[in-house]
Amino acid sequence: MVIFSENEKLTPTIVELKNQNKTIGFIPTMGALHDGHMSLVKASKEQNDYTVVSIFVNPTQFNNPDDLAKYPRTEEKDKELLIKNGCDFLYIPTISDLYLENEKAKHYDFGTIDQVMEGKSRPGHFDGVATIVSKLLRIVQPTNAYFGEKDFQQIRIIQEMVKQENLNVNIIPMPIFRADTGLALSSRNARLNDKQVNEAPFIYKILTDAVNLKKQGKKIDEVKKNVEDSFNNSPFKLEYFEITDEETLLPITNFSDSKNVRGFIVAHAGDIRLIDNIKF
Ligand code: PAF
Repeated sequence: MVIFSENEKLTPTIVELKNQNKTIGFIPTMGALHDGHMSLVKASKEQNDYTVVSIFVNPTQFNNPDDLAKYPRTEEKDKELLIKNGCDFLYIPTISDLYLENEKAKHYDFGTIDQVMEGKSRPGHFDGVATIVSKLLRIVQPTNAYFGEKDFQQIRIIQEMVKQENLNVNIIPMPIFRADTGLALSSRNARLNDKQVNEAPFIYKILTDAVNLKKQGKKIDEVKKNVEDSFNNSPFKLEYFEITDEETLLPITNFSDSKNVRGFIVAHAGDIRLIDNIKF
């Protein structure tokens, strides 16, 4: 694996490979890598000639400075995991490689899709995500870029940004990677204590229960109430549970209102924010 920390060296390497008609798969990450990221690396390796992973904890997408400070950083372990999984290029830029001094996130207009759920709970978050992903895609110039559906709303935002900026890249959504217990893998899980790790699969159980209730003919209001009630006696605090259309991300009132319906949940284990979703 070749490690780059300067854009000036990475971009020409990629351009040269693309001139030889090679395809490039790209997985942008904030590090603290886990098997979920490795499932993206595996897909990229199967579908492209070369795979690039970036590790950059992007400050402009954190609306809470405490969350940024506590974000897990495990660079040496990450490198080992990437080598083991056959990653070709690792890009680890510094803040000044990507941002000018005092540069803020660009302000995007994504219509309603960044005003609901994560956009509403974390003001400015998606401007930060779109800004950094746009910068990274321009530097890495991949053929295909891979994103996990755990952050489904993030994928919708990135698809819109790519459309608005006319970037020449395929955005490939990848299924949520779960532990055997059902817990969606996330870098933030590294902050859960043993007790919380044992309890956290509760969140996926709530989601699968919701899908089963729909199959039994329950209405959206009933499904939502069941989710809310389930949290009453749980160690987690529910922030939101929304059932929306996958394209608009706007809440629907009846399951028949949309062909592609997804349920989105955010729950707190102490000060750790856990996010998950499920297709209905
Ligand atoms: O999903 C993430 O890890 C981040 O939001 C991303 C896409 C790497 C942008 O910083």
